[in-house]
Amino acid sequence: MPTIYIIIAVFVLQIYQIDGNVLSSEETIAGSQSKQLSRRKGLTFIKWGHLVPYGIDLVGCRDWTNPNGFNCDPYNGDTDCNEQRTVLCAKTDNSPRPPYLVLGNGAAMPAAFYVGWTLGHISTTLPVAGSSFRNRAAVDAYCAQYFGTGWRVATFHDGKFIRNMNGTTYAGESWTTNASRMEIGGWSYYTFGNVRNDVRSWVHITDQPANCWNN
Ligand SMILES: *[C@@H]1O[C@H](CO)[C@@H](O)[C@H](O)[C@H]1NC(C)=O
Ligand SMILES: *[C@@H]1O[C@H](CO)[C@@H](O)[C@H](O)[C@H]1NC(C)=O
Repeated sequence: MPTIYIIIAVFVLQIYQIDGNVLSSEETIAGSQSKQLSRRKGLTFIKWGHLVPYGIDLVGCRDWTNPNGFNCDPYNGDTDCNEQRTVLCAKTDNSPRPPYLVLGNGAAMPAAFYVGWTLGHISTTLPVAGSSFRNRAAVDAYCAQYFGTGWRVATFHDGKFIRNMNGTTYAGESWTTNASRMEIGGWSYYTFGNVRNDVRSWVHITDQPANCWNN
C-alpha cells in the first residue's frame, strides 16, 4: 500500500510539474508577444568626438567609418522605446560656425552636409525610457526642465551647412554674413558641447515614423 501511495504521489507531482511548465512557458510566450506587438523604436545618436580648441562635439546617427558600427535607423527607429537612453537636448543661439575642417568625401551629399553646424549647444539628460513621452512637446518640455528656457530635443536635421565651408571659409563672421546660403544637413553634425559618449541618446526626426513619441 505505501508503495502505491508513493507511485501516485510521484505521478501527481509529475503532472503538476508538466502543468507548471506549460503554464509558465505559455506566460512567457504571451508576455513576449505582447511586448513585440507594442515594440516601437526610436532614433538615437551618439557622440563620436570632441574638438578641444573649439569646445565642440561631433554627434551623429551612424559611424560610417566603422562597418561593424551600430546600425542606426532614421526611417524606423533603432532602439526599443522601453529602453532607457539619455535625451539629447539642444539650444540654438545663432552662434557662428567655428573654423573646424570638413573632412571626408561625402556620400550622396557633399561632405559638409554630414558635418553641419547647429548654431548652438547640446547637453544630455539622465537615461529615460523613450516610451515615457507622449509627443515631441513633452520631450521639449523635459529638456527645458533640465536645462532651462529655450532648450528642446535635438533633431536629426539640426546641422546646417554652406557649400564649400571648410576651416575659416564660412566660419565666424563670414558664416553669419552668408547665412542666407545655409542648407539643412543630416546624419551628424558639430555643436558646442561636451556630452558623455558611453550611451546613445534619443533624438527627434520630423517626417519619419522613427520616434518613440508622436510628432
Ligand atoms: C578641407 O580642408 C582640409 C585642409 O585644407 C582638406 O584636407 C580637406 O580636403 C578639405 N575638405 C574638403 C571637403 O574639400
Ligand atoms: C560671405 O561672407 C564674406 C565674408 O564676410 C563676404 O565678403 C561676402 O560678401 C559674403 N557673401 C555673401 C553672398 O553674402
